[in-house]
Amino acid sequence: MKKLLVANFKMNSPEARGWKINAKKAEVVVCPAFPFLSDWDKKGAQLGAQDVFWENVRSGGAYTGEVSAEMLKSFGVKYVIIGHSERRANLGETDEVVNKKMKTALAAGLKVILCVGESKEVRKKGIKFAENFVRQELRADFAGVKNKFLDKIAVAYEPIWAIGTGVADTPAGAEAMAEFIKRLVKVKVLYGGSVNSKNAGKFLNQKGIDGALVGGASLNSNEFQKIIDSV
Ligand code: PGA
Repeated sequence: MKKLLVANFKMNSPEARGWKINAKKAEVVVCPAFPFLSDWDKKGAQLGAQDVFWENVRSGGAYTGEVSAEMLKSFGVKYVIIGHSERRANLGETDEVVNKKMKTALAAGLKVILCVGESKEVRKKGIKFAENFVRQELRADFAGVKNKFLDKIAVAYEPIWAIGTGVADTPAGAEAMAEFIKRLVKVKVLYGGSVNSKNAGKFLNQKGIDGALVGGASLNSNEFQKIIDSV
């Protein structure tokens, strides 16, 4: 199985001109902000979105500010990130919302990158607390999701304390959590949180880690290509 490498540009808009991704042995997805989706078509990677709405109304709908799965598909989007901790924290996205988005996206034929991960406060109490937290998120986020969709889902384990901090989890720690997640759901598991070209290889070499979700280090094309090359 090819490793899955996902670039999450967040609310940044790196210049698309000049980017040419050489995916080589990996499956690569870039997730720009909505207005820039078309700039990132045909750059050697598949297109992903950073969010999707839970109603998929083909003909449109009265949901100011939202973007539907059908709209994303019309731009060539194949993947969507759902439940990123920044959305859970800043926009109050609950597991109920995340679950609705999962079902809608999957039914529409999009592949899903579901983000889960514990806070620093939870982690401080010990690994068992972190596992319990992740288990609860998974249980709620996967509620009612049909088994036939499992191969369309990757769970990104992103401990919140590791996101954008420069303090990544250890490869062994991420591997242990990946194995824990796989015992609960039969899906691919990615690691995310301060992945860069120096540490990517160590995460990607772990048996249970099927890829990475990369934020900050994906904004620079050379750095992101090095991460891809470390597969
Ligand atoms: P980071 O972000 O790589 O900048 O830590 C990862 C993410 O939030 O997906």
